[in-house]
Formats: sequence, C-alpha cells, structure tokens
Amino acid sequence: MKLRSPSTILVTGGSGFIGANFIRYLLGETGQQEHGFAGRVINLDALTYAGNPENLRDIAESAGDRYRFVHGDITDAALLEKLFSEEAIDTVVHFAAESHVDRSIHGPQAFVNTNVMGTFALLEAARKAWIDANGTVRDGVLFHHVSTDEVFGSLGATGYFTETTPYDPRSPYSASKASSDHLVRAYHHTYGLPITLTNCSNNYGPYQFPEKLIPVMILNIKDGKPLPVYGDGKNIRDWLYVEDHNRAVWTVMQGGDTGESYNIGGDNEWENITLVETLCDIVAEELDRDPAETRKLITFVKDRPGHDRRYAIDCSRLKNELGWSQTVDFAQGLRKTVKWYLEHMEWVDGVRTGAYREWVEKNYTAR
Ligand code: NAD
Ligand code: TYD
Repeated sequence: MKLRSPSTILVTGGSGFIGANFIRYLLGETGQQEHGFAGRVINLDALTYAGNPENLRDIAESAGDRYRFVHGDITDAALLEKLFSEEAIDTVVHFAAESHVDRSIHGPQAFVNTNVMGTFALLEAARKAWIDANGTVRDGVLFHHVSTDEVFGSLGATGYFTETTPYDPRSPYSASKASSDHLVRAYHHTYGLPITLTNCSNNYGPYQFPEKLIPVMILNIKDGKPLPVYGDGKNIRDWLYVEDHNRAVWTVMQGGDTGESYNIGGDNEWENITLVETLCDIVAEELDRDPAETRKLITFVKDRPGHDRRYAIDCSRLKNELGWSQTVDFAQGLRKTVKWYLEHMEWVDGVRTGAYREWVEKNYTAR
C-alpha cells in the first residue's frame, strides 16, 4: 500500500485538547521530525474558551518554520481563502469544534455555527483550492475530518457501533457533528474531494479542558469538592488515551482509503460511577489521602437531558486493515493523566479563570 505523505498540514482547532496533542505528536517535544512527518503545520484556531495557546508554547518556540499559528475562525471564508493561497496546504485535519454536550444543551447556536457552518466553509475553501473548473483534483491532497462515536446515538446493554451503523444523533452536539460528517461525505461524492473520516470514542489525557468528566473529577477530588455524577452513574463510555487516538488519525491520514470512514475506540467500557471511584482511589494515593474519604465526595445529581446510555465502538476495521491498536493501558493512562493535572495546576488555574486570555488579546489580535 502506498502511504500518503503530507507536506503542509492545516490543523484546525490545534490549540484545543486533541488538536494540541496531535501537533505535539507530529512535531515532537523538540520540534524535530517525528513519525515520518518532515513538513509544516499551520494551526488555525479561534481560541474559544477551550483553546489555549499555552498548550503549544514550547512547540511554537522550538519548531521554527515548521509551525505557524493563525488566530482565526473556520467560518471566516475570506481568511480561509487567504490561507490556502499563502500556504501550499495539501492536507487538512479538521479538529475545530464546539465539543461539550452539556454546553450544547444550554447554547446550541455555537455548535451549529462552528460544527456545521465552519465545516462547510472549510470544505468550500478546500474544494476551491484543490479542484479546478474541469473537476480535476490536485494530486496528493486530503481532507481528514475528526468526528465522534456520538453520531451513532445510544446503545443498550449489548452491541457495538460499526462504520455502517445508521446515524442517530440525540444531542445538539452530536447532531451538529453528524451534519458535518454528512457534508464531508457529500463533498466527496459530489465534487470528488479526497476525504477520510474517523469517529472516535471518549478521549482522556493531558490538556483536556476541565469541564469533561475525567478532569472535573480529578480536580474536584483534589479540592475536596462534591463529585457530580449524573443520574444513576451507570452510563457507559469507551475510553481511549488521546495519543492512541492521534496515532489512529495519523494512520488513517497516511493509509486510509479515500472516501472511507474508520471507527476508533478503546475496547475499554466503563460505567461512570466505577470510573469515578477509581479516580478517587488514584488521586487519594497520589495525594496520600484516605480513599474512603475521597469516595464520600461522590454526589448523584439530576441527569443530563437525553443522556446517551452507552457508547461502544467496534474498531476492528482500523485494526485489521491499517494495523492500528491501542497502546496505553487504562490504569497507566489514568495514573499519567492524574499526575499531569496535579503537576499542572498553573495551567488549570489559567484555563479556569481565563487568566491567559489577557495574554491572548495582547499577542493574537491580528491574524
Ligand atoms: P476542544 O473543545 O478541547 O477544542 C476545540 C478547539 O477548537 C479549541 O482550540 C477551540 O478554540 C477551537 N475552535 C472552536 N471553534 C472554532 C472556530 N469556529 N474556528 C476555529 N477554531 C475553533 O475539543 P477536543 O476535545 O479537542 O475535540 C477535537 C475534535 O475531536 C472535535 O471535532 C470533537 O468533536 C472530536 N472528538 C472529541 C472527542 C473527545 O473525547 N474529546 C472524542 C471524539 C471526537
Ligand atoms: P463527558 O466527559 O461530558 O463526555 P460525553 O458526554 O461526550 O460522553 O461525559 C462523560 C460521561 O460522564 C457522560 O455519561 C456524562 C457523565 N458526566 C457526569 O456524570 N458528571 C460530570 O460532571 C460530567 C462532566 C459528565
């Protein structure tokens, strides 16, 4: 199989949780060539509450010409056109999104704007740059769309999502991601835009904004605050360490069949309550506290409206066809993540209070 070899990658949402980890994965801690990628990364990010340039400060300082940060919005068609004309972009990897289900329940508009309209604007920009008036597609280009298993809806006690499971999104977040997936596929079928798509289960690891389950729980345990478990705590998620996700994205970008989608998962299902109890034990151990006391912080609260019961991914296609597999064991990944948060309280305080915003305003007012 001939692998694709991207040279200039436009990463959208590269200052968020998974995007920042992806750029770190590609450019490496020292900005040296990693994973066979010797090219240039352009990170386009609007720096919403979830995007933090601090996540990549060392990369920005060490990677030289191989990294450019552009402060801007993916819905800005003029900016996208300018970027495609300034840079020899041959690959897009599209992470930028509004990503939190609870926020989508309280304020769905931003989800439609960014996830639907933003993806549309990006697809249009790529189509205009890469496909000429005769419909001829430039060689070697690829639009990779990063999506979620939540587009498939909710499972009962048994079964798995496969690549052919019908879409059945149930929150404004998953509905907006499902719309974006449909648009990406439509651009492939209608215009011949070379695309690949991945749908991944719940990620965890460093740099995740402290509104998602795992960082919320770690930090509340540390601070002795109540641990809000929604409903009966028996909802099930399939957890994957963020670097395993990013290695899968890179694997698909290099070797995935054009026009195809691949499911990515952890083969690692946990009831929320068991996961929270495990975190209580790990944080207690790390901070030399009594685990029985940390567990007493668990507080069952009103359920999330429309709360999906169970997600579980069948990722055998990715394993069998592209040779990917998970490498980070859950116990080790959780321990690493707990330690990272406990050792990065300055980062946590910065993103929680928005303190770094002042620095963003000063440094990133211009494109
Ligand atoms: P995140 O919320 O941590 O980061 C999103 C990033 O996108 C931020 O840096 C933000 O500033 C940027 N952004 C938002 N709106 C923008 C806009 N209009 N223009 C430019 N930039 C904008 O999200 P994440 O958890 O890193 O998720 C990244 C992608 O992966 C999303 O597409 C999400 O749907 C998908 N995904 C996430 C998970 C997960 O568990 N977190 C699982 C599967 C798929
Ligand atoms: P979350 O991290 O928001 O991811 P998603 O909803 O995209 O799967 O939530 C993971 C699970 O944890 C989900 O079932 C909701 C639950 N949850 C809580 O019980 N308490 C919390 O404070 C949060 C943020 C989530």
